[in-house]
Amino acid sequence: MLYAEITGWGKCLPPAVLSNEDLTTFMDTSDEWITSRTGIKERRICHCNFSDMAIVAAQRALAAADLEATDIDLILLGSLTNDSYCPNTASLVQDAIGATNAASIDINSACTGFLYGLHIGTNLIKTGAHKKILVIGGEFISHYMNWARRDVAVLFGDACGAVVLEASEKETGLLAAKIGCEADAKYAIQITNLGSSYSRLSEDFLYIDWNFEGQEVFKRAVKAMSQACVDVLAQTGLSVADVNLVVPHQANKRILDALAKRVGIDENKVFVNVHKYGNTSAGTIPVALTEALEEGRIAAGDYVLSASFGAGLTWGAGLMKWGERTQPLSLSDATLPPCDKTALEILAPHIKRYTERQPA
Ligand code: UT7
Repeated sequence: MLYAEITGWGKCLPPAVLSNEDLTTFMDTSDEWITSRTGIKERRICHCNFSDMAIVAAQRALAAADLEATDIDLILLGSLTNDSYCPNTASLVQDAIGATNAASIDINSACTGFLYGLHIGTNLIKTGAHKKILVIGGEFISHYMNWARRDVAVLFGDACGAVVLEASEKETGLLAAKIGCEADAKYAIQITNLGSSYSRLSEDFLYIDWNFEGQEVFKRAVKAMSQACVDVLAQTGLSVADVNLVVPHQANKRILDALAKRVGIDENKVFVNVHKYGNTSAGTIPVALTEALEEGRIAAGDYVLSASFGAGLTWGAGLMKWGERTQPLSLSDATLPPCDKTALEILAPHIKRYTERQPA
């Protein structure tokens, strides 16, 4: 029987930091409100293209697996903030890293984009259709932010992460997954005025705004992620006590606490980095997985549980069994183009645009 071992991992965080205090310089909010409601202290703002982050994360993951880009036969890239609709971003990554043997697919399922990709990639390896797959997840969400909306703008940040999957005969990688979608509530998270359902003749076309029903999403996120965790444990015959670490989607610290309580897992077994990066959508899980490895939180043979929830409203959970190796085989010197601006300087024209004009 074939499995899809995770043999490489990497993250890319843009250097510009936007703190809660920075946000108070242009919107009616406070560090106290943001910290107590979400646990977020700061987030990163991208100064380049989304694909630049994806390329660096991919190169770091490839180096960790000690593979050449030409070894990869498929790239799955989860994001809703692609450089362009055409060409797709997975193609940009394929070209930039020289993965000339790889098919290249973008997956748009928002925050669950990485987990969906991991599930699809794992099963394509299990069937023998592919042998070495790069799964990337990330977001340049600050680009799609309405900076006049304090209820949304404080929550998100930019980042990207990637893993390499390789066919293995050892029982390892994603052992079970359950993914789904609560499309009855699809408009609880909606980015408006962008896309072919919006009239190009409208003055508001391309003026980004959000429908965001925070409390509804919160309740559904806790319920769907915890049920999906219970389901994947049942699939594998394992219990909560067998799980060594939970690496969940990082949207809100309160959601993570509620998830731990509902699944019955010790809070200390839940990996948290939402305070540093905010919600980076499809980027949260691969970045958190990389940091969990860097911090020695994952040992050989560990069971790692993950869960996600996002626009769609898409959800999922997966149970991974870690392989023998928790250290990268080599390191990449790939890096982003230099950034000579602060986060507030990068955002200044966007903040001006959104705070000076509200939609009709
Ligand atoms: O990755 C996709 C999944 N996304 C999520 O899972 C997000 C889920 N939702 C949440 O995390 C929380 O619902 C939020 C953090 C978004 C909001 O927390 P909340 O405790 O549900 O707050 P709320 O929406 O009930 O807002 C309470 C108050 C409101 O004022 P009034 O109407 O009670 O006077 C808001 O206007 O807080 C106000 N408010 C703010 N105040 C200061 C909203 N945003 C802010 C802000 N600063 N940034």
